[in-house]
Amino acid sequence: MMIFLDNAATTPVLEEVWQDLAKHRSLLFANPSSTHPLGIKVKKHIANLEKDLLNYLGGQRYEIIWTSGGTEANNLAITNLKALANTNKHVVTMNGVHPCVIKPIEALKKQGHEISYIQTSAQEFVQPKQVEKVIKPDTALIALTYVQNEIGAILKLQEIVQIVRNHAPNCHIHIDGVQALGKIPFVLDELDVDSIAFSGHKFHAPGGIGTLICKNKQAFLPMFLGGGQQQDIRSGSMDAFGIHAFCTAALLHTEEKRTHLKKLNQILKEELSQIQAEIRYITPKDAAPHITMISLPNHEAAVLMRFLGAEEIMVSTGSACSAQIKQANPFLTSMGYSEKQAYGALRISFGLQNQEYEIRQFVKTLKQTLEIY
Ligand SMILES: Cc1ncc(COP(=O)(O)O)c(C=O)c1O
Repeated sequence: MMIFLDNAATTPVLEEVWQDLAKHRSLLFANPSSTHPLGIKVKKHIANLEKDLLNYLGGQRYEIIWTSGGTEANNLAITNLKALANTNKHVVTMNGVHPCVIKPIEALKKQGHEISYIQTSAQEFVQPKQVEKVIKPDTALIALTYVQNEIGAILKLQEIVQIVRNHAPNCHIHIDGVQALGKIPFVLDELDVDSIAFSGHKFHAPGGIGTLICKNKQAFLPMFLGGGQQQDIRSGSMDAFGIHAFCTAALLHTEEKRTHLKKLNQILKEELSQIQAEIRYITPKDAAPHITMISLPNHEAAVLMRFLGAEEIMVSTGSACSAQIKQANPFLTSMGYSEKQAYGALRISFGLQNQEYEIRQFVKTLKQTLEIY
C-alpha cells in the first residue's frame, strides 16, 4: 500500500469531503449567477458556506474572493493591487517565498518598483526587528509567507504586523497562508493582515479552488474581465463544487486534528533518533506540525527519494515546484547550509489521512536504504 508523506505538495481528498459533495451534487452544479430559484438557492448556499468559513477563521472583518488556487490568489494580491498602479512604489518581501509570490514581485521590479528583501536565517527564520530595518513610511506592499512550505517555519506574524502598522500605516500586508490553514491556530481578525491566500488542495479539498481573503475587495483591480462575478474582481462562473469542498475540508481541521499531526511528528522524531546515520534537523523546533525537513549530508536526498519511491513511499526533497531544478536547494544555501547539507535535504510532510504505522514503515525503509546506499 502506498504511503504518502508529501502532503505539503498536495493532499488526498478526504472521504468526508467526497461524501458531502455527492450529497449536495444536485444543488452544486447550479450557477449562482442564475436568477431562477435553483441559482438563488446555490447563491445562498455559497453565502452560508462563506459565513461559516469566516467564522472558522475568526475573520468577521474580511471578504472572500474565490480563485483557482494559491498561485492565483497570490498573483491577484500582488499584481492587481491598486496601490501599485501607475507610480513606482516600495515593496518588501522575504527569501523563501513560493515562486507564485516572488515571480510577480520580480515583475514589479522590472516595471520600476523598488524591492527590499528580508533575509531568513536557519536560527531565527525572520526576526520581527528585521522588518523594522527595511520598512519605509511609504512602503506600499509587504508580501510574506506565514508557514514556509519547505521547512515549516512559522512567521511571528502579529509582531510583524504591528511593526508595519507603526512604520507604514498605508502599507498593504499580504500573506501567503497556503501552508497555514488548518495546520496552525490563528484568528484572522487578530492577525489584522490586509489579505491572505489559501489553497484547497493543501488541506484535503480537490485542486483548483483557492481564495484571497481580504479586508476590502476594492483594493484590487479586476483580474479577469467578463460577466462581473465576485464584485467584478474575478469574472467567471463561480465553482460551487470547489467552494463547498474548500469550506467542508477547512472546517474539518479542528484542534484534535492538529494534535494528530503533532503526534505523527513526534513519532517521526522518535523513530529517526534510532537511526545511526548523521541527521540534521533543518525544520526549527517550533515549526508547523505537518512539515519536517531533515538533512542527511552524507547522502543525496534525490537518490533516497527514488529508493523510497520504489517501495511506494512518497516524500520529497523540497517544494514540488522546484523539484525539476538540478541544483542544491537555493533557499537552504541562502540560509547558510552547505551544498552537501542541501543535497541531503528530505522533506516529510503529513496529512490527516496518515497513520502512525506509516511513519514507522517510512523510517524502517529509510534505515534499510541507508544501509545499502
Ligand atoms: C506556500 C505556498 N504558496 C503557494 C502555493 C501554490 O498554491 P497552488 O498549488 O494552489 O497554486 C503553494 C503550493 O505549493 C505553497 O506551498
